[in-house]
Amino acid sequence: MQINVANRLPRTTDNACQLLFLFADGRLKGAARKIDKESDGQLKALYANGDFKGEKAETLLLHAMPGTTASRILLVGLGERKTFSANVWRASSKAASKAVLATPATQLISDSLNTISDETLSAADLAEQLACDLINSAYVFDLHPRRDTPSSPALEECVLSVDRSQLEETATAVQRGTSTATGMHLTRDLGNLAPNICTPSYLAERAEALATEHASLTTTIVDEEAMEAMGMGAFLAVSRGSQQAGKLIVMEHQGQKRAGKPIVLVGKGVTFDTGGISIKPSESMDEMKYDMCGAASVFGVMHAVASLQLPLNVIGIVAAAENMPDGNAARPGDVVTSLSGQSIEILNTDAEGRLVLCDALTYAERFKPDTVIDMATLTGACIIALGHVASAVLGNHQETIDALVAAGERSGDRCWSLPLWDDYQTQLDSNFADMANIGGRPAGTITAACFLSRFATQFNWAHLDIAGIAWTSGKDKGASGRPVPLLMNYLFNRLD
Ligand code: BES
Ligand code: MN
Ligand code: ZN
Repeated sequence: MQINVANRLPRTTDNACQLLFLFADGRLKGAARKIDKESDGQLKALYANGDFKGEKAETLLLHAMPGTTASRILLVGLGERKTFSANVWRASSKAASKAVLATPATQLISDSLNTISDETLSAADLAEQLACDLINSAYVFDLHPRRDTPSSPALEECVLSVDRSQLEETATAVQRGTSTATGMHLTRDLGNLAPNICTPSYLAERAEALATEHASLTTTIVDEEAMEAMGMGAFLAVSRGSQQAGKLIVMEHQGQKRAGKPIVLVGKGVTFDTGGISIKPSESMDEMKYDMCGAASVFGVMHAVASLQLPLNVIGIVAAAENMPDGNAARPGDVVTSLSGQSIEILNTDAEGRLVLCDALTYAERFKPDTVIDMATLTGACIIALGHVASAVLGNHQETIDALVAAGERSGDRCWSLPLWDDYQTQLDSNFADMANIGGRPAGTITAACFLSRFATQFNWAHLDIAGIAWTSGKDKGASGRPVPLLMNYLFNRLD
């Protein structure tokens, strides 16, 4: 799908849809006014008789209207003008995207953005969200063989018309929104792929393919032999129970001429988490294929960053392993030595994410990072704390935490800070090693972050626990593509 920005509405093709965003007050501007006039007040009449109220995310499809060459128009409500906000816009933009994609329209046009922008939300801000929602809503997973392959929506081209003065800014914003959504597609594909296909080796191949696709990217794969030689005993303790070889995948985007300190993103890539010897109950265990969504988000962000040629140095590190029970698997009680030299008593083999991540964090030191942000479906406790609405953010650098909270607010892909007070650290005390890998049931998300903090002493660091937001269960089961929008917004803010 192509999204273009112009300073007037184009001539439509013969299968188009015109989008009209309208407030609840019924005041019509721009194209809406023209259509109303030429149709003898049909839009006004819809308000008067209550068929369309202009409520947030309300949609109404009309056919063969006078005053437009589009074969259909889609009215989308925005609620009251005085309560209009980025949140309302997101709801309406998503509803509009879904409704348009459900029609057979191949072209979408709209000149509504200028009529609804204000001091807090520019036409460019609105266009960024709409572009992202249109492309993200068109996502179809079709990577598994099926008799009936799911079909993609018909929409091919969108033209958003804005005032001449806003053209340049809006075009940049649309590029950002488009690339964010394209990154989300990759994240969702990797998350949704079956765990017998999406193995650590498969992820390594995809990382190499990404480097072939983008000139700014280089990929390096660290295999188990090299990890053994380096002393990554924590990572290997997880990987050794699996027939699948673990991989540490490093993707480097060189976007700055001068050797600026990189932003390093680290992703938990447990391609399937059975729990290991501390095996999980079998109900919904299939969903543990999503335990690599932190890694999938690193892929999505690297893809978007490289497509946009962002002038930042960004490095993605993926810790990819499978957690299986086996004769060779780690046992509860095993003591292993991490790359940092600290020893760990593995009291529960199901707390494997922190074991693969801690060695990846130590590995990140070699890049002398400006900031390190890790993403992981780390704890079930995070879902209890924040549900499926927000990620948890914890770290050792308040500025980075604040920047992530703000980026989440702006993108609607929110995160909320939990305390990383020293008081929690004692829950990790071990009688037999430097630390245990679990801290008991109380504050499970915090003690997991406490564990990671012991390996993030050499740089500014924040950790995102994405267990509640990376995928949806139930009828719409699938990977969500989050937290790619959060991370992309964080990176955009680092630029601006
Ligand atoms: N991948 C899980 C966390 C998880 C659980 C994510 C459910 C999404 C949904 C992680 O590896 C895990 O098993 N964590 C344990 C930690 C515990 C043993 C300290 C958990 O949360 O129960
Ligand atoms: Mn686990
Ligand atoms: Zn896990």
